Amino acid sequence: MYQKIFTRRKFLLGLGAVTAMGAVVTGKDELKRQQILALDDADCECIKYPGDESLKQRAAKKKLIFGAAIRYDQLSSDTEYAQNIAKECSILLPEWGLKWHVNPKPLRPTPESFDFTAADWMLNFARTHDMQFRGHTLVWHESLPPWFENTVNHQNAKSFLEKHIQTVVGRYRGKIHSWDVVNEAIEPRDQLPNGLRKTPWLELLGEDYIDLAFRLAHEADPKAMLVYNDYGLDYDIANDEAKRNAVIQLLKRLKSKGTPIHALGIQAHLNGSETNFNPQKLKDFLAQVADLGFKILITELDVTDKELPHDIEIRDRIIAKVYNNYLKVVLEEPAVIAVITWGLSDKYTWLNEFKPREDGAPVRPLPLDLNGKRKFAWNAIAHAFDNAPTR
Ligand code: XIL
Repeated sequence: MYQKIFTRRKFLLGLGAVTAMGAVVTGKDELKRQQILALDDADCECIKYPGDESLKQRAAKKKLIFGAAIRYDQLSSDTEYAQNIAKECSILLPEWGLKWHVNPKPLRPTPESFDFTAADWMLNFARTHDMQFRGHTLVWHESLPPWFENTVNHQNAKSFLEKHIQTVVGRYRGKIHSWDVVNEAIEPRDQLPNGLRKTPWLELLGEDYIDLAFRLAHEADPKAMLVYNDYGLDYDIANDEAKRNAVIQLLKRLKSKGTPIHALGIQAHLNGSETNFNPQKLKDFLAQVADLGFKILITELDVTDKELPHDIEIRDRIIAKVYNNYLKVVLEEPAVIAVITWGLSDKYTWLNEFKPREDGAPVRPLPLDLNGKRKFAWNAIAHAFDNAPTR
């Protein structure tokens, strides 16, 4: 389907227009220039349309699963989107429904209550379409409800955590592929011992909140795969390096305590403008995790185009390349069992709100475009599955 209409020359001409107008070449322009130069035609096999087979079918051939995080309101109101989800995905998770609090549909509207409508609806959709279902997430500093601060204290924090995990994990016992038990507990910038993030749970319960959460989840659903999930593990930059090291240390500490934890979730919110990607460093990190006996899931994959040029075709090619380069490395590691994108279509991506472009153009971080059509990013993911070694 894709034809070589877009040559390296056209990239250079596109950029030339900027410099020919006499603009000063800033660091940002230079970065764009380098990215564009890197998109040699020869590198772009990954954007050719590889045929109609869905991502879940291609993944399955390699004993992998592919899926997406989806919002209940979007899935239930958009039939075409729902069809695309069913076509491409073999695993699903709620982007919102299982967090303590996300407006307008919190799971924990009050300290006593639980509202499972969104999560139940999605689980039912997943089962109807023969998909697996993930839970995200039991402990996350960002999704705490407005009532949390004035209600949860040193005396009752443990019982709040217990009740939450027993109720939520217990409800879906036996129906969940994997749970993101603890999300984003590491932040070296906070400069706390062990690289831990400063969070209310840490302040209330000390570092053992992590071990406790996993034990509670395991008791409530002994068969579910339990995952520690984090971001900022992907690039050859100082904070990512510090995070990778702190995560390895955390996994080692948990393992030596006998904590029931089975996998690392790598969010992989990638950046289309980041040039410090070092395949060997990522590979080594994945191998270290695997050597400790953990499985690995890529849990929230997307590629921000915030800093990329406006031109849609250039943007889409850069994004596709980022997907392909990343997945090529990641899928070589046999411990990696799943690839999950954060949304499936650009029509519904958190990045429109969280990382909007300065030019106001809609962002294009996902495999399907605004109309649900497959983009270069979709092709790139498909190629990565096709070329991956089987598990
Ligand atoms: C985001 C959702 O996409 C937003 O809609 C929500 O308001 C905030 O959270 N890391 C995570 C996800 O683990 O839960 C976040 O999801 C994105 C970053």
